[in-house]
Amino acid sequence: MTDRPRIILDCDPGVDDAIAIITAARWTDLVAITTVSGNVGVEHTTANALRMRDLLGIDVPVHQGAARPIVAEPFHARHVHGMTGLADVDLPLADLAPDSEDAVEVIVEATLAEEGLHLVPVGPLTNIALALRADPGIANRVASVTLMGGGASGGNVTPAAEFNIYADAEAADEVFRSGAPLTMVGLNLTHQVRMDASHADSCRSFGHRVGDVAAKLIDFNVSVHRGGGLPGSGAMHDPCAVLAVSHPEVVRSEPRHVVVEVDGTHTRGQTLVDERGPMSREPNCRVAYEADAGRALELILQAIREAPVC
Ligand code: RIB
Ligand code: CA
Repeated sequence: MTDRPRIILDCDPGVDDAIAIITAARWTDLVAITTVSGNVGVEHTTANALRMRDLLGIDVPVHQGAARPIVAEPFHARHVHGMTGLADVDLPLADLAPDSEDAVEVIVEATLAEEGLHLVPVGPLTNIALALRADPGIANRVASVTLMGGGASGGNVTPAAEFNIYADAEAADEVFRSGAPLTMVGLNLTHQVRMDASHADSCRSFGHRVGDVAAKLIDFNVSVHRGGGLPGSGAMHDPCAVLAVSHPEVVRSEPRHVVVEVDGTHTRGQTLVDERGPMSREPNCRVAYEADAGRALELILQAIREAPVC
């Protein structure tokens, strides 16, 4: 029995989701990959998860999830991830269809069958909210819900809101009120973990397909993030949530009370963190504040370098 954390990765591949799949395959026991509408439509996020599974040659079920947010209209980010969500990588479509189209049921059943799983959502929280609606007891059976989303200091879709929360604010609100053991790995953390052309060059030097694909994803990520943060680099958001579970020493977090704004004219999708100290409300979440960025980048590159080459 390995002591690697056993996780369900709920994702919307997505350039950084694809790197998160590589990272999770190396550093966790991937019980399942579930997909959700987010960066692109769920038919593409699912196809991309299957393409990454084939590239890595890993034996992990992929289950398709929600095709739309629980209330809002679908909201995508093709300008950040490419028209079909995996940038311009040359990856064949997978031969196999998803193992099911019942990601929500799979999350419920898997957490009933095995206590102590980590749910690691790195896309909109639609599947997680629907699973908690179906079985609120999930909140007491999982080791954590460690999500990439939100943040403690501003957004990327609007000045207030980060994409994963904004795209399905109602779902995020339900998850943050569920009582589940949440860790929020938000933009304030993920913007500390940035990859640039030197990291892409390292990946190409590995001399295998996974390295070449990762290099293209990193280059694309840099090209679309020319504005935010440091020019010439791009934040690698989703792998940070995986590392927060597999290598908790890499991310420093603090207990905080966090609410999700659903109705605000200018603030819909904001994760409002109560940082009033002794005046704060009872914490419902751990908020990630500081990354050991050097170590995180080492672990991501090692996962790419050591990826199974099929
Ligand atoms: O805001 C960054 C998040 O939105 C990442 O998960 C990225 O993949 C997109 O889903
Ligand atoms: Ca994502």
